Amino acid sequence: MKFFIDTADMNEIREANSRGWVDGVTTNPTLIAKSGRRLNDVILEICKEVKGPVSAEVVSLKADEMYAEGVALAKLHDNIVVKVPMCEEGMVAVKRFSKEGIKTNVTLIFSPLQALLAAKAGATMASPFVGRLDDISTEGMGLISQIRQIYDNYNFKTEVLVASVRHPIHVLESAMMGADIMTAPLKVFKQMVNHPLTDAGIQTFLKDWEKVPK
Ligand code: G3P
Repeated sequence: MKFFIDTADMNEIREANSRGWVDGVTTNPTLIAKSGRRLNDVILEICKEVKGPVSAEVVSLKADEMYAEGVALAKLHDNIVVKVPMCEEGMVAVKRFSKEGIKTNVTLIFSPLQALLAAKAGATMASPFVGRLDDISTEGMGLISQIRQIYDNYNFKTEVLVASVRHPIHVLESAMMGADIMTAPLKVFKQMVNHPLTDAGIQTFLKDWEKVPK
């Protein structure tokens, strides 16, 4: 499974990348706003740091405008993936991008049928938001196994990108279900590293090492 980091913060991206955790990056308008920088500046800097797909989202709601925005983003760097919201106009834009070989990530997916539509439009990646479903007391991970099964049934090449990941259990279940990619904030990667028995083991080894004649 590929790991993407869900942030537009260069310090976080560099930190995660130095530990080998970054196969790609996802951003969204909220994350770009948090960075306090211009979209193109951040995206270009991310592309210089990371050797992998970098999702940058369009903000228009009309297909023609989405297309124009996406083409401009795709021109910035070969690794750019144009992120398009799940909606009818978005699917028109995705189909057009797909015909022209521009990679897309269909975002804000909350049902398996939305994921099926994204695949039929030719999306490169589909992003189901598991955490936001959990937030409204709907089991988010069930969506991932449904999408995996549908894509496998019909041999769709669209990658399942688990998004809105909030904790390591989301990552574990994504891997068990055969998701292609998961994207998470740095905090989740750090939680994955830690285990109390590892910490206790390190302390014991260091203490015992003091008893070894030097
Ligand atoms: O980037 C899309 C997604 O991962 C957002 O997550 O935590 O805002 O629901 P969240």
